Amino acid sequence: MVLRSLELKNFRNIRSASVSFEDGVNILYGNNAQGKTNIIEAIRFFTECRSFRGASDRDIILSGESKAEITVVFDKDGREQTAQIRFDSEKRRELYLNGAKLAPKEFIGSFNSVLFYPEQLSLIKSGPENRRRFADISICQLRPVYYSLLSRFTRTLQQRNALLKTDDTRTLDIWDERFAKLSFLVTKTRENFIDRLQTFSGISVNEISGGKEKLSIKYVPSFYAENESELYSELEKNREKDAELGYTSVGAHKDDFETYLNGKNVKIYGSQGQQRSCVMSFKLAEAEITGDTRGEYPLILLDDVFSELDSERRNYITGKIMGKQVIITSCDPVTAIDKAKKIYVEAGNIIG
Ligand SMILES: Nc1ncnc2c1ncn2[C@@H]1O[C@H](COP(=O)(O)OP(=O)(O)OP(=O)(O)O)[C@@H](O)[C@H]1O
Ligand SMILES: [Mg+2]
Repeated sequence: MVLRSLELKNFRNIRSASVSFEDGVNILYGNNAQGKTNIIEAIRFFTECRSFRGASDRDIILSGESKAEITVVFDKDGREQTAQIRFDSEKRRELYLNGAKLAPKEFIGSFNSVLFYPEQLSLIKSGPENRRRFADISICQLRPVYYSLLSRFTRTLQQRNALLKTDDTRTLDIWDERFAKLSFLVTKTRENFIDRLQTFSGISVNEISGGKEKLSIKYVPSFYAENESELYSELEKNREKDAELGYTSVGAHKDDFETYLNGKNVKIYGSQGQQRSCVMSFKLAEAEITGDTRGEYPLILLDDVFSELDSERRNYITGKIMGKQVIITSCDPVTAIDKAKKIYVEAGNIIG
C-alpha cells in the first residue's frame, strides 16, 4: 500500500494543508509542538478509526471551529483509492471510502499502517490493557471481521456486568453462554496472532542480539479453558463473587501476554534496552505479518522513535524499512537517510 497524499482541514493546529508523499522514506521535521505528531495522528485515524492518542473529536477539531476533515489518496489492491473522515463537534464522525459512507466495522482494514511511537517502548513494562490493545489493533488489520467480534464481546461483557447486579439468573445463563463463546473466540484469535508474532519478531531479536537471544512469547489467558463450556462453567461458578466485585473476573478482557528472552521474563529480568528491542521487533513483525497476510506491505509510521533509540537499533530499523514506504517525524531532518523526502512542519503549516 502506498499513501499518495493527505489533506487536512481544521485538524488540531493545522487549518489547511495538503501534502504529498513519496514511495520511500518521508521525514516530517520541525521544532516541538509544531504539528508533526498531529499529522501522524491524522494518517493513523484511517487505520484505527480513532485517535491513537485517545483524543475525542472535540480535542481534534481546531480550537474555535466546529468541523474538521481529513482526506487521503492511496494506492491499494491495484487501484487509487480515496478515504475521508469528517469530524463535527455536534455529530458523530463520518467515514467515507471511495465516496461511500461506511461504518467503522466496514471501514477497518481498508488502510493498513503500522505505528511506532515512544510511549510504546514501554509496552512490556506497562499494564496488560496496552498489550491487549496492541494485539487487537494488529489483528483488526489482518482480519477485519475481528473488529465486529471484539465489539460484540465488549457489549456482552458490559451486559453481563450490568446483569450481575440483578437476580435474573435465567437471563444471566443466556449471557454467560454468549460471553463464553465470544470470549473463547477472542482468546483463540489472539493466541494465534501471538504465535505469528513470536515467529516474526524472533527473527529480529535474534539478528539484533547477534544470535545470542532467543525470543518467546506466551499468551496468558485469565482462565485456561479447553473449550467454551469450560469457560461457561467457570463463569457460572464465579457469579456470586463477580456480583460482589461488580465485574466479570475471567475472560478475554483479562488476558495478557508475556515476553521471554532465553527463557527469562523480559518484564522482570530484561534491561531497558532488551525491552525496547523486543517492542521494536514486535513492530517490524507487525508490518511483516500484515504484508504477508494482506499481500501488500503496510505504511510504516515512526513518531519520534529515532531520538529514543541508540544508533545500533536505529540502523537496524533503517535497514529493515529501506525500500518500504515510511513516514518519520523528528526534530531534525535526519540527514543520515539521504534518499528521503523532507517535509518541514512549522506552526501547523506543512512545507515540502
Ligand atoms: N484542537 C486543537 N486546536 C489547535 N491546536 C491544537 C489542537 N490540538 C493540539 N493543538 C496544538 O498542536 C500542537 C502539538 O502538535 P504536535 O503534538 O503534533 O507537536 P509535534 O510537532 O509532534 O511536537 P513534538 O516534537 O514535541 O512531539 C500544540 O501546540 C497544541 O497546542
Ligand atoms: Mg510529536
